[in-house]
Amino acid sequence: MQLHQASWPEVETYLARSKGIVIPIGSTEQHGPNGLLGTDAICPEVMAKAAGDDAGFLVAPTFNVGVAQHHLGFPGTITLTPATMIAAIQDWLSSLRRHGFERFYFFNGHGGNIATIEAAFAEAYAPWSFEADPAPFACKLRNWWDLEGVDAYQNELFPVGLGSHATPSEVAVTYAAYPDAVKDVAMSPKIAPNGPVRDAADYRARFPDGRIGSDPSLATPALGEKIIAKVKAALIPEVTAFFSETAPAARAAAE
Ligand code: NI
Repeated sequence: MQLHQASWPEVETYLARSKGIVIPIGSTEQHGPNGLLGTDAICPEVMAKAAGDDAGFLVAPTFNVGVAQHHLGFPGTITLTPATMIAAIQDWLSSLRRHGFERFYFFNGHGGNIATIEAAFAEAYAPWSFEADPAPFACKLRNWWDLEGVDAYQNELFPVGLGSHATPSEVAVTYAAYPDAVKDVAMSPKIAPNGPVRDAADYRARFPDGRIGSDPSLATPALGEKIIAKVKAALIPEVTAFFSETAPAARAAAE
């Protein structure tokens, strides 16, 4: 069930059986010569939709612009600064909490978001910690490639050229989702260089076509379908367990 395709009475009905919501979160940034700018948002979005449709949990609209300042040397990239992103996440949480949501599973597609999402969680919990009251909600962050067995699987599919940015794995997932957007581009060099990530000008100088360590010409829609299926199988039990956790306040009342 997707929030954007639900009516408010349907959300009200959902809240009577579950207080949990999955929030896909990603980025709008260059993904090399054949990767889509939406890659990091599209991946968690299609994976969450597949799992949510199967298991019946609610999936929020995708938080689709993240921290991507280092990609601004390439046309199309849009970034938030960390402070803006932290503030925006607070507003999403406050809005959803007002309706009764208590479990927020942030399903992330962009490594550059991790520190900022964790900082946003600390901001959200801090007022409760200052008051010595248990927070009546909980947040969880999971990167899709960190789900049980997924990283091993993508290394098995791409033993050479997986790399760390514009990977054949993530590009394959977007090609499965949008087969009309598949781009046939020869990679030169075949495997991109590796190196540190700093500011946008430094990034463009180190990684001229945007890739880091990868060969995304290996991506195909069929491989993307396999990765989505692998992720879905690991995502459903983890989300189900998180949504059924007992809230601290309820635990205290029961003791
Ligand atoms: Ni990416």
